[in-house]
Amino acid sequence: MCGIVGYTGFKDCASILLKGLKCLEYRGYDSWGFSFLKDENLVTIKKAGKISEAEEIVNDFPRKSFTGIAHTRWATHGFPTDINAHPHFDCRMKIAVVHNGIIENYLELKKELQKEGHIFRSETDTEVIPHLIEKYYQEDILSAIRKAMLRLVGAFGLAIISTDEPNILYGARRGSPLIVGVGDKEMFLSSDINALVTHTRKVIYLDEDEVVKLTPTSFEISTLKEEKMQKEIHTISLDAVSLGKGGLPHFMLKEIFEQPESLHNAFRGRLDYGRAISKLGGLELTQSEMLSVRGIKLLGCGTSWHAALIGKYLFEELARIPAEVDYSSEFRYRDPILLPDTLVIAISQSGETADTLAAMKEAKRKGAKVLGICNVVGSSIARECGRGVYLHAGPEIGVASTKAFTSQLVVLTLLALLFARMKGVMARREGLIALNAIEALPCLAKRVLKKAEKVEKIADLFYRYPNFLYVGRGYQFPIALEGALKLKEISYVHAEGIPAAELKHGPIALIDENMPTVVLATESNILDKVKSNVAEIKARKGKIISIVTEASREMDDLSDFKCSVPPTPHFLAPILSVIPLQLLAYYIATCLGCDVDKPRNLAKSVTVE
Ligand code: M6R
Repeated sequence: MCGIVGYTGFKDCASILLKGLKCLEYRGYDSWGFSFLKDENLVTIKKAGKISEAEEIVNDFPRKSFTGIAHTRWATHGFPTDINAHPHFDCRMKIAVVHNGIIENYLELKKELQKEGHIFRSETDTEVIPHLIEKYYQEDILSAIRKAMLRLVGAFGLAIISTDEPNILYGARRGSPLIVGVGDKEMFLSSDINALVTHTRKVIYLDEDEVVKLTPTSFEISTLKEEKMQKEIHTISLDAVSLGKGGLPHFMLKEIFEQPESLHNAFRGRLDYGRAISKLGGLELTQSEMLSVRGIKLLGCGTSWHAALIGKYLFEELARIPAEVDYSSEFRYRDPILLPDTLVIAISQSGETADTLAAMKEAKRKGAKVLGICNVVGSSIARECGRGVYLHAGPEIGVASTKAFTSQLVVLTLLALLFARMKGVMARREGLIALNAIEALPCLAKRVLKKAEKVEKIADLFYRYPNFLYVGRGYQFPIALEGALKLKEISYVHAEGIPAAELKHGPIALIDENMPTVVLATESNILDKVKSNVAEIKARKGKIISIVTEASREMDDLSDFKCSVPPTPHFLAPILSVIPLQLLAYYIATCLGCDVDKPRNLAKSVTVE
């Protein structure tokens, strides 16, 4: 995820900004950049690569700059290159902007600005911002910033400097965090408290649509309507300073809790209520190419393979297109048959998984159209596919995939919805119901996360069991697999995911009082069947932890422990029901003292066969 640092004061700005960027490294980034105000000019250095390189370059910088901005970029629009790194500028190189977030309407703004003669240098969405400020700049920068903000749709945290106002640093936010650090004759700005705590414990949190004007000795916060705001200065406790992971003990936990935001980013700007359809920019498929798709082949490994399994249900149920799922590693070596008009979808968080990369190349070699669903922009799979959809989940650092998985499910749903509506197999009304339900997901995920303590208590009671079963049916069967994988990989506890109805064909022999079973039992047309399967476990003294729909009493008699998730259409239910399973795995692993973020024998991105 991108990071912002800004400074104005009387100290050497370059070393302060460099130190700030280093504190943001943990968020993940692919490029970095600085701009300083010096002798009424902007001095800029920006590059793709690691911040360690910045040290040498910044140390060679002319000193005596006291105001500047810096950024770590995690690409969303445009590859991770020097030119796409922030800051970005207006035409005359007088205004420099760094940005966190996504500008959804940047294409239409860019067209408008280009028509008016503005020259763009990068492929980013961010670059429209300095040009908009330039467009509206008449008397003062502050009102130009406000006017620009009124034109932006999406999320942003901004730090801005201008050669016309040498000791002033501006900040603005909507949807992306931005914090002011109040020092002694110096002011800081950052998207992340980490970058501030070594300089000051006094902070002001900016609220939605607020703009701040900072000088070394003053701060002035106002709204878009030019109302001046009196804001509280908070003193950060030392606990909050034990950060790195947003104050949480592990990246995995941080990423689980980021899901309301990452889910939102997966559908932001992609819901078209007017046409009751989803819109996905990077598909590069014409309408007739889409209508000619007769089959879908989904490829992935590990958690991404589980997402692919749910994709199969989605494409078949919603879009009525036959879909098959393959492990990338199996597909690549068995000379697979791809029928004409099969669309291949390669799913990978990292975009670097060697098996998936090879499998998609094989599919391409056989003449198939291949589409990527990746999180990392500019990754090998994304580039090799040349068409696809990004998750925009932000960097996933914990080895166990969590937020990327739920974002993969959102994107697969959007794709299935697109095909369904284009083919005319889903009515407008159903399309609208689906869009509304997708839009509600971040709120519902928050509701699930509020119950984390309950899951922690269950983990306390169960962490000594050496084996677990996870069962589910329909859309929830892949979630049983995913829950079991999460537990295995971070706690080293053996777990198996099984379709609930398959128990009686063998695995039920394992059941006794020492074998807990986690049951996915949310409302659906097959809940009665799941209940019968669970009754068979209960009759053999098996302990049951069930994931149920809020207010449902269906599983009361069968469950030893219950976690509930809010109601949502059955095809979206996996996105919510996997969250308690991520938490259960996390808390069991921490009870067992395991290194959650770096489990033994595993790598985040598997770039070997
Ligand atoms: O980056 P990818 O999505 O291609 O990675 C695939 C698997 O290696 C990955 O999902 C792995 O199974 C995770 N550790 C699961 O948590």
